Amino acid sequence: MADPAVARSGFHLPAPEGEAGGRPEGTGHLPVIRRLDSQTINQIAAGEVVERPASAVKELVENALDAGATRIEIDLERAGRALIRVSDNGIGMTEDQVLLALERHATSKITRAEDLLAVSTMGFRGEALPTLASVSKFRLSSGVAHGARVVVTAHGGQVQVSSGDVGPRGTTVSMEDLFFNVPARLKFLRTDATELSAIVDAVSRHAIARPDVAFTLRHAAGGPAHEALRTSGSGDFATTLQEVWGRDLTAALLLVDHYQDGVRLTGMVSPPHVSRATRTHQWLWVNGRPVRSKTLMAAIDQAFRAWTPERRYPLAALMIWTDPAGVDVNVSPTKSEVKFRDESTVFRAMVSAIKRAVAASGMVPGAEAVHLANEAARDARGDSPAGSPPEMPWGPGAFGMSQRAQAPLGGEESTAWLGAGTLFARPFAGGSNGLADGVSLGAAGGVTGVLPDLLHEFRLIGQWAATFILGDSPHGLIVIDQHVAHERILYERLWAERARDGVPVQPLLSPETLHLSRASALIAQQNLAELARAGFDVEPFGPESFLVRGVPAIWRGRSPLSVLRDVLDELAEGRAAGCLGTGTADVFAMAACKMAVKAGDPLAEAEMKKLVEDLATLDNPFFCPHGRPITILIPTSDIARRFKR
Ligand SMILES: Nc1ncnc2c1ncn2[C@@H]1O[C@H](COP(=O)(O)OP(=O)(O)OP(=O)(O)O)[C@@H](O)[C@H]1O
Ligand SMILES: [Mg+2]
Repeated sequence: MADPAVARSGFHLPAPEGEAGGRPEGTGHLPVIRRLDSQTINQIAAGEVVERPASAVKELVENALDAGATRIEIDLERAGRALIRVSDNGIGMTEDQVLLALERHATSKITRAEDLLAVSTMGFRGEALPTLASVSKFRLSSGVAHGARVVVTAHGGQVQVSSGDVGPRGTTVSMEDLFFNVPARLKFLRTDATELSAIVDAVSRHAIARPDVAFTLRHAAGGPAHEALRTSGSGDFATTLQEVWGRDLTAALLLVDHYQDGVRLTGMVSPPHVSRATRTHQWLWVNGRPVRSKTLMAAIDQAFRAWTPERRYPLAALMIWTDPAGVDVNVSPTKSEVKFRDESTVFRAMVSAIKRAVAASGMVPGAEAVHLANEAARDARGDSPAGSPPEMPWGPGAFGMSQRAQAPLGGEESTAWLGAGTLFARPFAGGSNGLADGVSLGAAGGVTGVLPDLLHEFRLIGQWAATFILGDSPHGLIVIDQHVAHERILYERLWAERARDGVPVQPLLSPETLHLSRASALIAQQNLAELARAGFDVEPFGPESFLVRGVPAIWRGRSPLSVLRDVLDELAEGRAAGCLGTGTADVFAMAACKMAVKAGDPLAEAEMKKLVEDLATLDNPFFCPHGRPITILIPTSDIARRFKR
């Protein structure tokens, strides 16, 4: 309805191009109200339902599943922009059915609104096919038995029936030149790599939910097609999860099967010591439908709170099964969200399901282990007469890893730190340097020039909480975050070496095999050149496996394979979210972060000295590649004031 106020004021929307006069035709200033034609209606709906190639693929896969297919083959060209083709061996359609299916609001899945209360199919809105037909060069061929098929083509919505195809029972839908008539939508598409990984993600979620269906996803980017996903249709959940996530990831997972208050939980979760830097591997389904839900992820967090370090995420592939009448699936056009009538019951069931699975595996750190770890941590920190430093959230007690708590706080300097008297007996050059209290050299302007000098005059005190390097300087107490500092050093070195003659590669004694999930494998494939520039000598070795022959020569400590895996996981997630580019800078920043020593890593005195020396030589010793400060100075005057000196 037109707003009468708008009509009175004589306000007009600009006319569409080609319409004379810059105002809607009609009598006087009154706007004309028209019924939109079906093509326009479908294109408007496309804005909600078909946002990107992955949403088109998802709709077609869901139709195939609803048609009872046991085999679904998906072919893509240029990440779905040039071609999306989905073939199934489902029940197929007759000519009448096909024509009806292409009409809006035509569905075989529900007949009345009440049916929504018990919907067990993926689709029910009756709008996917006409919508897809309106934004692509669309072709559907279908048959209800082996033999001649009905063929329907629609270029931007104009439907034409023909025949000529012969094939088995089932349906094949192909869409060429997606969004060819919606240029605005084309502009919003991200890179092919990003769109492709969104498709792989969408298909993977359905593939895992349906172990009884064999999925194949092939992609061609101009050249020959490669397989981006394949499941065997074995019928076994764990096998299917392994086919999608990769062998290494799934090997460590624990089975979940729990029933509580009308909610059944099945699937797999990781034990507490297996976690990832991102939530990339937390997948959820409700009654077989892939969903995204902050509440359910919060339930995972809650279950693992006591076991997993902060900012590490357990892996979870969890299916929630409950009475469909208690779940509203019609919340968004893409159906990726659901509402539970009783959310807290589902939340509680999920927390207990996970806790029980982990407890049953015997992988919870027991009271004894936690006690030993706490003791070790206390020894390592050293309880000074002035009282012990506060408990650190990353304290090893939380993870039952007593070995890592044996921090070698050796040497005179550290003794000096442990005895408060010795620390303050040291002659400080003292005096105010004009710096704000506890100023962070990374963050504050005006002090940046001071830092290299500070570091040159730095005298090591020791390591604190296995995380910070403490030193004295004429200006006060210097606290360096060991991880951030090392990360910055590695990052700058990668760039410097690249500028000289490339990052030197340290060959591994024997090449190691890295098995990845499909999504991360794809990222690896696409970034072989960038990885090589960062010093990783990696070559494809089967669809989801890679041979790692060499690592950057600046390598220190951690297993090269787990670092490489973390880098690729984070790149995959960052790209899917659109917050990481494809540039060398992102790969270098990620590699530096993952290779660097971590908070909680004990460092020997020589290592700390070397780290500070290196830091002092950097072009930019102020920020880590992610923008965090590296060094904090607590001015002597501030400490003196606290002691009322
Ligand atoms: N691959 C297929 N095999 C057999 N029948 C199909 C196939 N795809 C679609 N259909 C039929 O066409 C109808 C319309 O499909 P469409 O995807 O437009 O709507 P829907 O699946 O019913 O609902 P939604 O819009 O929520 O997906 C379906 O209800 C189904 O009967
Ligand atoms: Mg559908």
